[in-house]
Amino acid sequence: MNPLRQLTLDQLRQRTSMKWRYYPEDVLPVWVAEMDVPLAEPVARAITDAVTRGDTGYPAGTAYAEALAGFAKKRWDWEPAVERMAIVPDVMLGVVEMFRLVSHRDAPVVVNCPVYPPFYQFVESLGRSVVEAPLDATWRIDFAALEEAFVRAGRGAVYLLCNPQNPTGTVHTAAELSQVAELARRHGIRVVADEIHAPVTTSDFVPYLSVADDGLSLMSASKAWNLAGLKAALAIAGPAAADDLARLPEEVGHGASHVGVLAHTAAFRDGVGWLDALLDGLDDNRRLLTELLAEHLPAVRYTPAPGTYLAWLDCRELGLGDDPARTFLKQGKVALNSGIPFGTGGAGFVRMNLATSPEVLTEAVRRMAAGWNETSS
Ligand SMILES: Cc1ncc(COP(=O)(O)O)c(C=O)c1O
Repeated sequence: MNPLRQLTLDQLRQRTSMKWRYYPEDVLPVWVAEMDVPLAEPVARAITDAVTRGDTGYPAGTAYAEALAGFAKKRWDWEPAVERMAIVPDVMLGVVEMFRLVSHRDAPVVVNCPVYPPFYQFVESLGRSVVEAPLDATWRIDFAALEEAFVRAGRGAVYLLCNPQNPTGTVHTAAELSQVAELARRHGIRVVADEIHAPVTTSDFVPYLSVADDGLSLMSASKAWNLAGLKAALAIAGPAAADDLARLPEEVGHGASHVGVLAHTAAFRDGVGWLDALLDGLDDNRRLLTELLAEHLPAVRYTPAPGTYLAWLDCRELGLGDDPARTFLKQGKVALNSGIPFGTGGAGFVRMNLATSPEVLTEAVRRMAAGWNETSS
């Protein structure tokens, strides 16, 4: 059964998480990457069993790593070694720890913009600088721009690769990833791959470490099974980066939630049927969004992309300036992410969250169109 069709708006409004509480009740939220789904049954069971046992202490063992390894083998024909994985509190804190392992404390960080805003925020809060390498016009890696950014960042910098890419949903190919690895080695840059959206990918996903044995990757069940409130993620090292990961301080793993680890483990081990139903539902929503935009907002450009449940909408032809999300919120009472915090290339765009019911999606586009009509009339 499609998990995106199981909850009513009234039920969702009872939620107390960021998506549902940040804006007042008259605003329809289709922004932050939380999904409007009930928990997968095996995940819910793992949590309630832990609660029944009072099993709420510190995380231990390698079950999460084993579950991810099993999932990766079946899904991507790639099996990460359990001994080269470490539990971290979440993906972004894991990214920060990887930076510390492989680069000097003020080494710059290269990112492909437009990109998930915390890529800027976390790097800047570390006191480091971000060097942008804009994606090309089709949202793929522009290797000339990447090389130029590597040169600007200098030897010893890091490249934070988003694979698949948020917000564009681009799934990097094996050839592109190999080229990344080769270019990075040539310029003395270490690569940290944020692969949190990998399980959501509906086309062939290629793990960065399957082509680069000196890479570090972060994976998690948090996006694909909606577990952001159950903090846990895995850092993974390729064979040539094993010594780097071995230097991760033990206490970093203590920042993950034990119940989170149990939930993530159940997701990767037993939540595949649920995930497949979700992916079908997301495909339906991509088609629905295409139709809705054609009908109500034909000037908005949307290219359905396989690597995310987010939609990156080019609203530049609407004449709403750099921040159309503001108009949609004020005039249409629908909350989308503004493109501006996504860095260079984000102005005039909004990010929409498709992980919702067809009814909410339809209402969201109706409100966007109403907001735009009000402004342009
Ligand atoms: C690319 C990317 N990385 C990291 C995160 C956040 O993950 P975590 O909550 O595990 O830090 C998100 C959340 O949407 C994301 O899209």
